[in-house]
Amino acid sequence: MCGIVAYLGQKDAYPILLKGLYRLEYRGYDSAGVALMQESGIKMFKKKGRVEELQKFCENLDTSGTLGIAHTRWATHGEPNEQNAHPHVSEDGSMALIHNGIVENYVVLKQQLVNQGVAFKSETDTEVLVHLIKSVQDKEGIPLPEAVTIALRMVEGTYALAIISTENPDQLIVAKKGSPLLVGIGDNEYFIGSDGAPIVEYTKQVVYLEDGDVGVISRDKPLRISNVNDSERLPKSPYIQTLELSLEQLEKGGFDTYMLKEIYEQPKAVRDSMRGRINLEKDVVSLGGIIEYEQKMLNARRFIIVACGTSWHSGLIAEHLFETLVRIPVEVEYASEFRYRNPIIYEDDVLIAISQSGETADTLAAVEIGKKRGATVIGICNVVGSTMARETMAGSYSHAGPEIGVACTKTFTAQITVLALMALSLAKKKGTIPMSLYHKLLNDLETAPEKIESVLRQEQKIQRIAQYVATKQNAMFLGRGVSFPVALEGALKLKEISYIHAEGYPAAEIKHGPIALIDTNMPVIVVAPEQHIYDKVVSNIQEIIARKGTIISIVNEGDTTVSGMSKFTIEVPGIDELLTPLVTTIPLQLLSYHVALIRDCDVDKPRNLAKSVSVE
Ligand code: M6R
Repeated sequence: MCGIVAYLGQKDAYPILLKGLYRLEYRGYDSAGVALMQESGIKMFKKKGRVEELQKFCENLDTSGTLGIAHTRWATHGEPNEQNAHPHVSEDGSMALIHNGIVENYVVLKQQLVNQGVAFKSETDTEVLVHLIKSVQDKEGIPLPEAVTIALRMVEGTYALAIISTENPDQLIVAKKGSPLLVGIGDNEYFIGSDGAPIVEYTKQVVYLEDGDVGVISRDKPLRISNVNDSERLPKSPYIQTLELSLEQLEKGGFDTYMLKEIYEQPKAVRDSMRGRINLEKDVVSLGGIIEYEQKMLNARRFIIVACGTSWHSGLIAEHLFETLVRIPVEVEYASEFRYRNPIIYEDDVLIAISQSGETADTLAAVEIGKKRGATVIGICNVVGSTMARETMAGSYSHAGPEIGVACTKTFTAQITVLALMALSLAKKKGTIPMSLYHKLLNDLETAPEKIESVLRQEQKIQRIAQYVATKQNAMFLGRGVSFPVALEGALKLKEISYIHAEGYPAAEIKHGPIALIDTNMPVIVVAPEQHIYDKVVSNIQEIIARKGTIISIVNEGDTTVSGMSKFTIEVPGIDELLTPLVTTIPLQLLSYHVALIRDCDVDKPRNLAKSVSVE
């Protein structure tokens, strides 16, 4: 969602901010803006649409200044336009501010400010912050850092903030609560980012602000941090860490799009997610991050998995893995529903939160509920140092590397890999898995990267199938057992990047309604690898063919039954049924990708979507 980049140093800020805005594009946004500190005061540039529009607009304008803040906005309060775009300024133009997050009590605060005579220019919740801080400062006659602290004590909700003021043109104030913010420390210069992407080119020394932190960054002085919850505002010593990100990971590396690059990175993502976790000699699978809580997991009454979107689909796959192998009941919940449902949680429950970004607001809220009610809370996420990594009691990273395309691809298969390892490790310790199956699954996991590679080699064939699907308005994805979440994921991929309406269903369920949609115009993509209910899937396909539906199937190499009933077939190598999602997912990603390209859609930045959904 929204993105923040800011700079204070000796260099011209604008080129650094602009590049930073481009690097933040992947998060999803619909307007962008920059504020620069110049001798004449604060100069602002804002544009609706892409960063490119902003760049064109600024081309012949004075963009000098060595202090500046910049923002990409994903609209929440008020439509995407220049008024609502950040930065927002105080009425006298002396202070400018950018904000990620949501001010939940903005209506009350706004009314108080309006009563004081403040005239608002935008419909945003953010504008409240700049007027509130200014009003506190004017009333109390105090320096800006103090005014920010006092004002933030009145704010309910989440924020990552960067503020500049003509009161001190060599100072940048930052603050954080519930929304990530990093301060990158360079050589007499500071780089601020809502994530590492706009910073990594310049420095790897970063300080992750903690909730309630207010940072004061002054030219040629060390970073000073205090916390709004500390009434004395005592200085905290900044904890400098190394940013685990490389520039190369943020670039397209010869591919046309990030999404295609990331689809092709899956063999590596799966391998990296297994690396160091399987010891074949000792016959042991071990996930270091959860060792301390392993006993709690082994004794769990139940696993509650909370997640959203693609990560929720991983959760559904994990349900099969954990129930089959570990024999512990599993509930898989949409985090957004779970958090508002007063769920029954026992102290011997283990709540597993899955999120690639580790910043999804609903999943983080579910984590909080789990913690408050005494459950053991484990996280699985892809971003080192993310809020989820810090808020859960323990967890395992999926090592997919940064994912820039909005559509999740490699993080999905990496999540499945970690969940499979977790299930295997627990099952062996609990004695719920026959050793022959344990070894077979380990062996199949180890060979999964090669199997994914062999599916990737079929891209051209999939491209031809995409020509057919791209002409359709609707598509249905079906699967059973562990292939049902794969069907859901296939439908999600197609709709989010190609804007074709798609539904995922358990194959047997369609006769309870959706079969009414089947006609010659409905492509039905069936995920039908060898599995214990293969014959049942065959019967379900017969029902569709009888209604003149067109079958596109994903089957195992050598399959003749389902492929004989299909207009198009994509073959995948055989793998244990529980691990089939690792290979059956790949053709669905490629199919959606090519359909979207044919329909001229921006696959990396689909409309209305954000990479990390940090608001509820
Ligand atoms: O970062 P998370 O995994 O928590 O994100 C949850 C969903 O927003 C995400 O999986 C979304 O559905 C995908 N980007 C779709 O491809």
